[in-house]
Amino acid sequence: MTTPRLSAHIESFSYPDGTIALSDIMIDVERGEFTGILGSNGSGKTTLLKVMDGLIKDYRGRVLLDGEDIRGLSPTRIYRKMGLVFQNPDDQLFAHTVFEDTAFGPRNMGFAETEVAERVRGALREVDMEDHAGKSIHNLSFGQKKRVCIAGLLAMGHEILLLDEPTAGLDPMGEYRMMELLTRLNRESGVTIVMATHSVDLVPVFLHRLHILSRGRIARGGTPEEVLTAPAEMSDVKLRLPHIAELIYRLKHEDKLPFDRVPLTIGEARREIVERLARGEDKKK
Ligand SMILES: Nc1ncnc2c1ncn2[C@@H]1O[C@H](COP(=O)(O)OP(=O)(O)O)[C@@H](O)[C@H]1O
Ligand SMILES: [Mg+2]
Repeated sequence: MTTPRLSAHIESFSYPDGTIALSDIMIDVERGEFTGILGSNGSGKTTLLKVMDGLIKDYRGRVLLDGEDIRGLSPTRIYRKMGLVFQNPDDQLFAHTVFEDTAFGPRNMGFAETEVAERVRGALREVDMEDHAGKSIHNLSFGQKKRVCIAGLLAMGHEILLLDEPTAGLDPMGEYRMMELLTRLNRESGVTIVMATHSVDLVPVFLHRLHILSRGRIARGGTPEEVLTAPAEMSDVKLRLPHIAELIYRLKHEDKLPFDRVPLTIGEARREIVERLARGEDKKK
């Protein structure tokens, strides 16, 4: 067994006001994985990402980054490998221009200015923002701001990205482009990604592994197929099935149509339906 890149075993964490935000968490993220943490509002997603990134420390349990206890690592050691993209880009961006903001991390790491410029250009290219380097942060769209946040971390050479609701607040096209960007970073650049989201329709199309968080606990974990099963189980954790899965589930269980399985994406559903129809046609002949 190889050491997971990131491993979070949290017995419990409570906020100072007594809210128990996390308990009995066991998540291992392997190198190169695209992992999702799916949960409704208030389920503990943001808290969990902050624990994973070393921003919250006073929990019972252990978080290991490449096998090392994160509480023993200096912020510089952590931020060389891993970074958290906040849900609201305005909490993250502060410099005047896109270039300056993206340059902040690598400059702080002590790189020479030519290397900084090189890294910034590369990172902006990765997130499709290279034409906006001189633009004022103020004048960017919400989606562009989110991309610049990601570029800032890539410019530091991060191999692990933790993203808090990266698609929240984006329109459907922006949502799709964000997921495309994350998938590309994961598949082509080998970035390990942990994404917190409540957006159940996105999950099966893009993710390798999925953990459902409910009231601070992991209710289920596995591949999207293993985790997204029946509507009743999803409503127990205040979520629903992806729309397409809900439709096929009902056709199978309420209308007794002969589907072998419940596909989670439009592509899979289309194949299932075409196959079913072809079989029906064969019978008629
Ligand atoms: N600073 C805080 N102090 C006290 N309770 C908090 C604080 N931040 C979050 N919580 C509580 O912790 C729980 C988990 O919150 P959060 O991690 O923000 O969930 P999510 O990101 O899934 O919406 C919620 O019950 C929330 O009210
Ligand atoms: Mg949150």
